[in-house]
Amino acid sequence: MSDLTPTVVAKLLRERRTVHEFTPDPVESSLIADAIELARWAPNHHRTEPWHFYVLDYNTGMRLAALNGEIVAAAKGEKIAAVKRKRWSEMPGWLVVSCVKSDEEIRAREDYAACACAIQNMSLYLWEQGVGMKWTTGEVTRNPGFFNIVGMDFEHEYVVGLLWYGYPALVPTQHRKAPEEILSYVTSKSEQNA
Ligand SMILES: Cc1cc2nc3c(=O)[nH]c(=O)nc-3n(C[C@H](O)[C@H](O)[C@H](O)COP(=O)(O)O)c2cc1C
Repeated sequence: MSDLTPTVVAKLLRERRTVHEFTPDPVESSLIADAIELARWAPNHHRTEPWHFYVLDYNTGMRLAALNGEIVAAAKGEKIAAVKRKRWSEMPGWLVVSCVKSDEEIRAREDYAACACAIQNMSLYLWEQGVGMKWTTGEVTRNPGFFNIVGMDFEHEYVVGLLWYGYPALVPTQHRKAPEEILSYVTSKSEQNA
């Protein structure tokens, strides 16, 4: 491997951040189409390709914002709901990633993992293009009304993430545990392998 490629990838992996504040500038739809083209190259066991991508227009996003407002109002009151409605109405780009349901526990787990890999593919590519993303899994994503609005099949798929995307107005900082805290080297004597 060349020196350059790992450096570019390492920088991307380290510097990608979940973005919470976006500018109002729209993202070219061809860029999102490219990101989805790349997402589908994610690893997926038995090549189930368990994902589906729904690119939403602004009006559909606003319908989800209204539904979310209703859910929040019922649970936390109208004041908090109004704040959420405003915030959601300012999201410049809307995308939903779903995963096929499976009755087999292992397959369901592996399919979910594959979808998460696909989202990370998409997210890294967009980040490289200057576009940020926020992955959300709020209660609204499990509401039947959400499925109706997006045109999803409640019986056969579930939401892995509602993804907002756009040009970052603010890039948050983050931290991670030190590698020593999460890493164990496992060794065995050679005769134990025999
Ligand atoms: C499965 C999943 C669900 C998430 N749901 C939310 C969410 O509902 N709200 C939110 O603010 N962030 C959500 N996030 C983003 C995380 O908060 C974020 O990845 C974490 O704070 C680390 O920040 P970073 O992505 O910038 O490294 C989610 C991330 C994942 C992987």
